[in-house]
Amino acid sequence: MSAQGSQWRPAAPRGRPAAGRGGQQGDEVGALVFDIGSFSVRAGYAGEDCPKADFPTTVGLLAPEEAALELDGDKEKKPGKVYYIDTNSLHVPRENTDVLSPLKNGMIEDWDCFQAILDHTYGKHVKSEPGLHPVLMSEAPWNTRAKREKLTELMFEHYAIPAFFLCKTAVLTAFANGRSTGLVLDSGATHTTAIPVHDGYILQQGIVKSPLAGDFISMQCRELFQEMNIEIVPPYMIAAKDPVREGAPPNWKKKEKLPQVSKSWHNYTCNEVIQDFQASVLQVSDSPYDEQVAAQMPTVHYEMPNGYNTDYGAERLRIPEGLFDPSNVKGLSGNTMLGVGHVVTTSIGMCDIDIRPGLYGSVIVTGGNTLLQGFTDRLNRELSQKTPPSMRLKLIATNSTMERRFSPWIGGSILASLGTFQQMWISKQEYEEGGKQCVERKCP
Ligand SMILES: Nc1ncnc2c1ncn2[C@@H]1O[C@H](COP(=O)(O)OP(=O)(O)OP(=O)(O)O)[C@@H](O)[C@H]1O
Ligand SMILES: [Mg+2]
Repeated sequence: MSAQGSQWRPAAPRGRPAAGRGGQQGDEVGALVFDIGSFSVRAGYAGEDCPKADFPTTVGLLAPEEAALELDGDKEKKPGKVYYIDTNSLHVPRENTDVLSPLKNGMIEDWDCFQAILDHTYGKHVKSEPGLHPVLMSEAPWNTRAKREKLTELMFEHYAIPAFFLCKTAVLTAFANGRSTGLVLDSGATHTTAIPVHDGYILQQGIVKSPLAGDFISMQCRELFQEMNIEIVPPYMIAAKDPVREGAPPNWKKKEKLPQVSKSWHNYTCNEVIQDFQASVLQVSDSPYDEQVAAQMPTVHYEMPNGYNTDYGAERLRIPEGLFDPSNVKGLSGNTMLGVGHVVTTSIGMCDIDIRPGLYGSVIVTGGNTLLQGFTDRLNRELSQKTPPSMRLKLIATNSTMERRFSPWIGGSILASLGTFQQMWISKQEYEEGGKQCVERKCP
């Protein structure tokens, strides 16, 4: 990417011919696309097929008393704060370091932490000056006006970017799938949502949200391990392990001289073990859970980092069942939560009757949690039973793991490199003339 040296200029009002994916034109400077989810940060150049960077949104934060004394590299600093960002740095066990996330409910909450993540992305992944590249950023469909304006201000004032655009994740996902209308079902880490998109705009009244997603599955797995008396030992603690036979107590040696890590950091590393288990072992049953059927399931063998290994059978199906049928989940008291199928049908039911066929005809499945084995088959089955006979149901779910996890980023990559999009940017000049409020008008 030959970014250095040339300046980004706004396109002529009529736009210019589409650059298409993969190509930057003439002296134009590549735009950057950021999609920051609760689980991971995706960032890279528009026009490319997948993000350059994909790292945890969770960061380490050194206790303030210690921050004043820290001098070595490998971290991002803000006044009085030291952050440990990205897979490698985050994984080093350290004293006095808690983990935290800049997001809450999918929206930016901790702005220092958010900036530390952007600084890290520019410095270590993009390796270029923020002032050279227009930025397209994704946002949660329920992002607030105050937060959007604050972000616009931050990008123009602090990072001095030449142009900015904010776009809802669901709209970007629809674009990534070559559509401007559809019902986007997104199941990520913190929530599962159904978001109707019509002609490139979100229908706010139809958004349905449930907290049953990846984090919820992790919590269920954690309980399973407790019930089974299986200890989760994260890799950072393990110096050596010996092979043991199935179900036998593990035989491993703890690292000597481990620093006194915080509870939150230790928990984070345990969660990573659980997430691997989730992706490797669990499977969504293709019809409502039935104990007898589950007992017949082929088992899957799984080995923990400390060498403990055993076969998992019925629990493979039982745990993810809660996503589709929350009624039997322990700990969800007075259960009024909607299963995934209901999330979709409720959302479509809240939209105008005229556009429902377009939504049923394009149910777009996205988000890391939908990669659970059997997820789309079960969803298809449930929706087939609930779709009114007059409508045709079509589920759109790419088989590529990358595309399922990165769809908002990919949509942003396509959008920002379209010739016809170049006039949509908020340019620096427009920002200077109209102030941060211009984001409401330019990015509805
Ligand atoms: N192959 C897989 N199988 C099962 N679960 C997976 C797989 N890959 C990722 N996940 C789960 O998907 C979740 C992350 O999904 P995703 O990357 O879509 O989240 P996000 O967009 O960062 O967060 P959110 O949408 O909640 O703000 C995590 O809970 C992770 O454990
Ligand atoms: Mg997401």
